[in-house]
Order: sequence, then C-alpha cells, then structure tokens
Amino acid sequence: MIMQKNNLKRQVLLLIMSSLLLINAKVNAQQITVQNNSNQYLEKRIDSIIQQLTLEEKVAMCHAQSKFSSPGVPRLGIPEIWMSDGPHGVRGEINWDDWGYAGWTNDSITAFPALTCLAATFNPKLSKKYGINVGEEARYRKKDVLLGPGVNIYRTPLNGRNFEYMGEDPYLASKMVVPYIKGVQTNGVAACVKHYVLNNQELWRDHINVEVSDRALHEIYLPAFKAAVQEGKVWSLMSAYNQYQGQYCSHNEKLNKILKEDWKFDGALITDWGATHNTKEAALYGLDIEMGTGTDGLTMSTKNAYDYYYLANPFLELLKKGDIDESFLNDKVRRILRLMHRTSMNKNRGFGKINNQEHLDVAREIATEGIVLLKNENSFFPIKDNKNITIAVIGENATRPMTIGGGSSELKAKHEISPLDGLKARYKNATIIHAMGYESGPSVYAKVLPAKLDAEKLKNEALEVASKADIVLFFGGLNKSHLQDCEGGDRQSYGLPFAQDDLINDIIKVNTNTSVILVSGNAVEMPWHNKTKAIIQTWYLGSQAGLAIADIISGDVNPSGKLPFSFPKKLQDNAAHSFGKISYPGDSINQIYKEGILVGYRWHDTKKIKPLFAFGEGLSYTTFNISEIKVNKKIFSKNEEIKITCKVTNTGTYDGSEVVQVYIGKPKSKVKRALKELKGFQKVFINKGEAKDLEITINTNDLAFYDESISNWNLENGSYEIFVGNASNNIISNLKIKIL
Ligand code: BGC
Repeated sequence: MIMQKNNLKRQVLLLIMSSLLLINAKVNAQQITVQNNSNQYLEKRIDSIIQQLTLEEKVAMCHAQSKFSSPGVPRLGIPEIWMSDGPHGVRGEINWDDWGYAGWTNDSITAFPALTCLAATFNPKLSKKYGINVGEEARYRKKDVLLGPGVNIYRTPLNGRNFEYMGEDPYLASKMVVPYIKGVQTNGVAACVKHYVLNNQELWRDHINVEVSDRALHEIYLPAFKAAVQEGKVWSLMSAYNQYQGQYCSHNEKLNKILKEDWKFDGALITDWGATHNTKEAALYGLDIEMGTGTDGLTMSTKNAYDYYYLANPFLELLKKGDIDESFLNDKVRRILRLMHRTSMNKNRGFGKINNQEHLDVAREIATEGIVLLKNENSFFPIKDNKNITIAVIGENATRPMTIGGGSSELKAKHEISPLDGLKARYKNATIIHAMGYESGPSVYAKVLPAKLDAEKLKNEALEVASKADIVLFFGGLNKSHLQDCEGGDRQSYGLPFAQDDLINDIIKVNTNTSVILVSGNAVEMPWHNKTKAIIQTWYLGSQAGLAIADIISGDVNPSGKLPFSFPKKLQDNAAHSFGKISYPGDSINQIYKEGILVGYRWHDTKKIKPLFAFGEGLSYTTFNISEIKVNKKIFSKNEEIKITCKVTNTGTYDGSEVVQVYIGKPKSKVKRALKELKGFQKVFINKGEAKDLEITINTNDLAFYDESISNWNLENGSYEIFVGNASNNIISNLKIKIL
C-alpha cells in the first residue's frame, strides 16, 4: 500500500516536472521568437533609415566629430555616439578638439581595480559586478561606449600596458571578459573590447608588423576576442595600432574576415585613436568608425581635421567616383545604427549611478579578491592590531596616487585611499611610522621627469624608520609613469626601478622582519625574494586601494588571488625574450613571435624553466586539501562533456576561498603541444573545517588544436592527461582519458 502511494507520488512529481520542463522549453522558444522578431524589426527599421540618409550623412557617421564622439543626423533625430576610456572607470572629460582636460567639476568617478587584478580574482561573478558597476558610471556620465576591456595577451613583462589586460592565458581572459561585457551592456552602454589584435607591446606600437603563426594567432591571441563576440555579444571592438601581415589592424583583410565572416560579429569596429592609414583599405576591410586621426593622432589636431579623415571626404570622393561600392558604406552605417539602437537610441536604459557606496564596495571586494599572497614565511601575515607593535610603512608606493597616469586608462577618482591611509584607518592600536624611502618623479605622459628629492637622505630616513620598527612593510614596485606601467612605452628593464633593490637589501640589513608589497601590473625581478619574510602582489587597486590592502594585511579578508601571469626569475626565462631581439621588440619594422603557442606558463612548463612565481599561484592564510579527484569516465567522443569532480576541504584556521584549476595536455600529438593548458577553473569559498564538492565540466571540442594544414580546429583522437591542482606548478592529481 505504502509502496503504491509512493509510486503515485513519484508519477505525479514526474508529471509536474515534465510539464514544467515543457513550459520552460516553450518560454525559451517564445523568447527566441520574440528575439528573432525584434531583430527583424530592428533590421527593417535600420533599412528604412539607411534609405532616408544622404551619401554625405552616411559618410559623416563613419568618423569622429570630436576627440571622443561621432556625429548623428540631427535632421532625422539620430543621436551622436559618445565614448570614453575605460576600462577601470570612466575617464575625466577631455576637450572637444584636443587632449587637454575639459576641467569639468562633475566628472569624478569611482576607480575600479586594474584588469590584471580582476583577472587575478579568477572569479567571473566579480567580473559581472565590475561590468555592471562601471557601466552604471559610464551611463551616468552619458557615455554610449566604454572603451574597454582589453584582452591583449601578456607576452612580455616589459609591455607598458599589461596592467590593463587580463593576463597570459586565453582561457582565463575569455572567461573573465565575457561577464564584464554583459555587465556593462545591461546599462545600454557598449563595451568596446580592445585592441584587436597582437598589440602586445607599446614600443613601436603604431607601426610594428607582427609575424605570428596561424596556430598561435588562433590558440593564444584570438580566443578572448572570439569569446567577447560570440559569448559576450559585444557591441563594439577597437582595432590595434600595429600591423599584421603587412596591413594595419584597423583595415586588415584577414582580421576583418575572421571577425565579421567567421565569428559573425554584428557590431561596429572602431579604430584606436589615430590608427587609420588608408581610405580604400578602411572602406573595404571592415573599419566602421574612424577615431583620433589628427596630425599625429595623439597630441595635435587641426581645426576641421575631421573632414580630412580617411573615412571622410576622401571616402566620399571614392564613393562618388564609383571606385567603392555604396554597399560597403551601407554595411558600416548599418552596424553604427545597430550600435546606436543598443545604446544612444535605447529609450529603456536607466540613468546610471556614480560614486555611490555600492560602487566603492564592489571596487573594494574586487581589490581584496585580486590581491595575491606570494610568500608568507612563518605566518608573517596577517598582522594583528596590537598596541605593543610598531609597523614601519616604507616606500613611495605607500602614498603615491595610482589612478593618475598610465595613459588613456588614467582616472579622475573622487577618492583614492592610499595604502598608508588604509593601514592607519585599520590599525588603531599599533604605532605606524612612515618614510618615503625613494622618489620616482612626477607622472607625465610620454616623458620622464627627474625626481627632485635627495635620494641618499630619503634612504637614510627609511633605514632609521626601519630600525625602530618591529615589522617593515615595504611598498614598492612600478608606477603609472612613462616607461613603467604606462601606455606609449615599454619598461626598459625587468628589475625594480628607482634603486629599490638596493634599498630593500639595506632595509633587510637593519630589520630582518621585512615584507615587500608590490604595486604593479607587471612581473618584476626579485633578487631579494628569499631574504624577505613575505611578498604580496597588489596590482593597481583603484579608489579603495588602501582599505583593500589593509583588509588583507590584517586578515579581515583571507587572500585568494592567483597570478594571471608567470613571474620569470629573469627576463631571459620569458619565452618572447629568449628568442632575441627579432622576437622582442623586433627590428623596429618587423617582429616575429618565435615562441609560437608557448606563451607564459606554457613555455615554463614545456621547457622546464621554473618561474619564480607561477601562473595560477597564490597563497591563503588557511590550508586546503583537494581530494577525491575523479573524472566521470575514461573514454569520450567529440562534443562530449568531461566532468571532473573533487572535494575541497578547508583544513586550516581561517575561512577562505580556493581556486581549483584544471589543465589538460596531450602527451603524443602530431603537433607540438604545451605540456598543459588551462581548460577549467572554479573558485569556492569554504568555512574552516568544512568541505565542498566541486564539478568542473570541459567540452572535448575545447581540446582541439588549430590545424594549419586545414586552417581549422582539429580534435585529435588518443590519450589526454588531466592535471588538477591549485596552481600551474602545484598539480595534485593526473588523470588519463581517451578521445576516440
Ligand atoms: C589607446 C586606446 C584608447 C584611446 C582613446 C589610444 O591611445 O590605445 O586604448 O582607448 O587612445 O583614448
């Protein structure tokens, strides 16, 4: 009797569930139909607008009317498009015609952490929050396009712009860029993913011609852009300054085909500022909006220069002569109108918000989750607040504002809390003493201005302060000045600038209880690493920098960031540098990416060159145990889900998060492979003493390599090896599977 009742219950339940599934499927189908209908409606509307536009009006839409806007058509009520940098917050207002600051008093914003920090969180949910919040600020500032995020792959630690990108791994960058885009675009503001593509150094960026294998292009440099287009559905993209295969990326036949034909990108390709060089190519090879072409595209502009843009009068003339078919123009205008419908013509978008507590909280949350603890001898950190201790805070980066400088990603932050202020606010009982230690000079774009203070005096003060303290926190690293972490130039050496290595060594001589807190967007050489008690990598953390750093140092937040790129011991250990000048920086005309697909940890692993700190590495105040690592079966076919499960136990004394990372390698292959490549990861928060089960799924198709012999992806049959761990250099288990 009881059994019958249970059976009946089960059947009723099944019936309810299947009808729910049916309803769900119907809803989904309805949504798709509505979507299709609204797309068709939109395309028809665009058709009708295009028919009403004159040739001149259409051409005008394809180029700038000011430094950061392109025109609409007032006659038809078509609005302008307003853009702003990006990607760490909305840049202060710039003059209409030149690069001077407009001097507004209502354009101060929240500075969010740099994208390297976001990548180091390994937390796509935070990326979504980042996007939503920075998008709200862009919307409030009446911007239609936010110029970011950047996903150029970290190839060399000398690249001045790595801090604006998402690290060295295409899978990590893809997983992190998609939610950012979706978040921004929920505000009716377009993200503009940049710089498409191969802009992996600043030196000679405006002309260098990159030679790279098709395989490395597709496996390393393109995936994050592809994910941005296909998964993120990004509405605009920015071209890179450099050349590829002898053609500028703004109007590159091959790159345009990949973007618009292969990936079916339906948005607008916007140039980088001053990156257009040829009218005919721009007309034919997919450039939609030309920006920033001035006399030199960056620092000067002539009155009415806009009419002389490549896609202005010269374009009009070619169209009038019939040298270029109008269909090319119409395609551009269609894409621009699509962008407008999604942004400036979207009546349903909200008004945005700016500088509110919620944004500051999100900035702090991302900052704390991205900070990476690299070394922590004898639990140096966390440091408890205690009236018996004296903490020496030494180094220029303890007080230097880092939202200023860096080039186009500079910010006019409403607040920026320095590490020193953050620590003072957190440590009410301990005594904090401070010395500058070294001085780097002011932050000026494209110039290095000398420091003014007496270096010897600064050093002696620092040593005195260090000798009086129980604990030394040295805040050094790089900064946002020219030839540091800054657009328009590359670093000139891998070591720390401004004689910091000597200073650190001397401080250690007077106080062995010294830690180094690096503020940078790049790896640096650390000759002193085994003499310091602890090392933290903090990136550029934005408005709440000091509070986030104090959160970690005090243990209020347990660190959980992981490195999004490798820290080689010395520059020559980096793949690009190991092939000599032609590989980096090139001969000033050409450059060959000789390392091919072996970028970052792929190189270190495969060539067995140990880095100082590895991709994916990062410590916690607690300990985790990853166990019961299993795969759902041993033999797979094409397009099948591989399910990797494991149990993560927090075995220490702090609550905290761990990132389980899954790498896959193919030992025997018809092509050269990296030993292993990241194919899945998951961040999980676990209370002390507790455990959680995880499942990470990977589609077998994602194990394909780009086969140059067929110009397509190729999934090889045979054995694969799955590596599971919590860093690329800490693999806990190897599993073997086969694809047949
Ligand atoms: C940078 C872009 C930026 C643009 C506008 C260029 O120099 O490369 O990333 O969006 O300027 O400021």
